[in-house]
Amino acid sequence: MTGVDVVITGGQVVSDDAVYRADVAIKGETIVSVATPGTLPPAAETIDASGKYVIPGAIDSHVHFRTPGYDYKEDWETGTGGAARGGVTTVFEMPNTKPPTGTVEALRQKQAIAKAQAYVDYGIYGLLDENNIGELEALMDAGASSFKCFMGNTFGDLPAPSDGAMLEGFEILARRGYRCTVHAENASIMARRQAKLEAAGRTDPLAHLAARPEVCAMEAVGRAIIFAEWTGARLHIAHKSSKDALYLIRDAKRRGVEVTVETCPQYLLLSTEDMKVQGGVMRVNPPIREPGHQEPLWQALREGVVDMIATDHAPHTPEEKTRPSIWQCDCGFPGVETQMPLMLTEVNRGRMTIEDYVRWACVNPAKAWGLYPRKGAIQPGADADITLVDLAAERAIDQGSLFSKSKISPWHGRRVKGLPVLTMVRGKVVMRDGKCASRCRRRSRATSTRPPRRSPRPAPSNVPTAPLRPRGRSGRERPARARRTALRDPPRPGRDPLAVPAGGHHGDRGVRIRLPQPARVSRRAIIPETRHRQRRRPPRRGRAVRRLQRPR
Ligand code: DOR
Ligand code: ZN
Repeated sequence: MTGVDVVITGGQVVSDDAVYRADVAIKGETIVSVATPGTLPPAAETIDASGKYVIPGAIDSHVHFRTPGYDYKEDWETGTGGAARGGVTTVFEMPNTKPPTGTVEALRQKQAIAKAQAYVDYGIYGLLDENNIGELEALMDAGASSFKCFMGNTFGDLPAPSDGAMLEGFEILARRGYRCTVHAENASIMARRQAKLEAAGRTDPLAHLAARPEVCAMEAVGRAIIFAEWTGARLHIAHKSSKDALYLIRDAKRRGVEVTVETCPQYLLLSTEDMKVQGGVMRVNPPIREPGHQEPLWQALREGVVDMIATDHAPHTPEEKTRPSIWQCDCGFPGVETQMPLMLTEVNRGRMTIEDYVRWACVNPAKAWGLYPRKGAIQPGADADITLVDLAAERAIDQGSLFSKSKISPWHGRRVKGLPVLTMVRGKVVMRDGKCASRCRRRSRATSTRPPRRSPRPAPSNVPTAPLRPRGRSGRERPARARRTALRDPPRPGRDPLAVPAGGHHGDRGVRIRLPQPARVSRRAIIPETRHRQRRRPPRRGRAVRRLQRPR
């Protein structure tokens, strides 16, 4: 092997099912070899990983970087700098900015900002709302990585779309193979509850939870699953906070619905007991729930019902988080920088293995967004997105030293054991010993995440709708329009799942990137839960209906 740029020696490489001693060679942006220790030739740079774990960079599918519109809360430099500090090499950024990312113009504006400021790779979410259904395809063509539908109100006050608009949006996404992420809480239940609580004079922290009972999530998760199943759209459920809707997701996965689910450290590690102490600092949507919800979420992760850990990094200022009434405290808090130390602490506590961590924070998000194995894996041909982890390093989280502009965190003072000590994005070190390397800032790029095409469910014949692709055995028969765009639809054998066509449909990068041997991302790879499907159990409708009707 000649001309290798970097070798990482002496570390233990981690995948989702193994830990083994190996050295890693990197050429340019790509891993070119994972070899027996001591067998790689010398390189221009050697990184000594003795005593460290070498893991794929984490992929955070849920961050809010606030720019444009709320730059005082966060921007792409501080947001992605925090990601680099936290061992995160790819982020997916949410559309509730000002303007919301619901038009091509707004998307292009955000792409330009991200390109200039980002330390790590990123995908940008487009918005799916009542008024932009006609623009969804243009957003896809302009480089939106995925779509977000706010079924329930949260920061930014974007109104929930009607069911009709949401279903139409799902139909469009299904035709093009895109995944829709939903903020699954029922808007009207929450609006009425909150109005009643406010009228009754409640301003205490737990009133926030009372305004958003679990039925909000159960109803919205159920509705989103029905729409996804009906249309064939891929679905992603954001920030699963409670145990209650897990059975709906489990059943949907068994039926073969393409649904993935994320939870966040705050839902695994905090409860209302903490909120009683911390108050508005912990106000977040969906709310942090009573003790008794956390363990079922852990169990759901272990079973594969919940697929991944994200953060919902949602920065606000200390002033916005500490107002006297809970209704005045902005919802959310920073998380992209603290996720890895918090979860590695659980590895040290024996609650999960480091392979579990890699599965939930790296592999499964890469699979869900069609990035695997280019991202989420330490193997030849993959992007050199690598984080070195020192599982023995300890410290207390200090909100004042977060890279984020938001110097307020419910994790402040918490001791963590297990820290990212070096983060590399496509071959360049962007963080070493907690310090970001500014020279790397302009290297990051938009990440295209369009997964392979799949067959949508045929629409019932009495509903007028845009032509759907007929359900051919291999899904080869397509409407003319789909055929025209097929060239842009990765991945296929021999093609790069992340390639941007020359000319650049992303509008912000016209470079085509090639993998030496791109692996096909199969349906199986994208849906790790296929083992459920193989059993083909019939849906247990009777049970679900009974449970929904039973008074709590
Ligand atoms: O608490 C939250 N804050 N939940 C969300 O879903 C959005 C986020 C924000 O943007 O502040
Ligand atoms: Zn969010």
